[in-house]
Amino acid sequence: MIKIGIINGPNLNMLGKRDEKIYGNITLEEINHKLKIFAEREGIELTIRQSNFEGEIIESIQQFSSQVKGLIINPAAYTHYSYAIADAIRDCPIPVVEVHLSNIFSREDFRRNSVTAPACIGQIAGFGYQSYILAIYVLKDLLEKKSEELK
Ligand code: DQA
Repeated sequence: MIKIGIINGPNLNMLGKRDEKIYGNITLEEINHKLKIFAEREGIELTIRQSNFEGEIIESIQQFSSQVKGLIINPAAYTHYSYAIADAIRDCPIPVVEVHLSNIFSREDFRRNSVTAPACIGQIAGFGYQSYILAIYVLKDLLEKKSEELK
């Protein structure tokens, strides 16, 4: 089974109570449930974490780097200014995909810049919880190809 980690950043634990027009009314628990069902069907083992603290997110990236084969991260507001998280992603030897529920390019100016995305293999934004589904799909494909190449 391919192991993939997911890290959710600050305030994502409040989904369901955040601006409904932007994030809908789905909770993080409901999203995680949908992702687990999808992952199970695809033969993927998911480990999902959420933290409101920058240092904890960095520690999760460091820990996941030796525990899973691919990582999905929604750094939330840290996306726009955390060079520390960007460095942790750069130091991480496994592929990392950045995701956002909302289309950060259609919102306030400060959200249009991601300092963390350049450290990732790519970014998926604007599709609600399906941004995570797409990221799982992309990582699965990439990791399967990699293991084929090793045969
Ligand atoms: C977010 C977008 C960020 O700008 C914001 O700070 C969040 C959520 C998203 O998933 O759309 O908290 O990362």
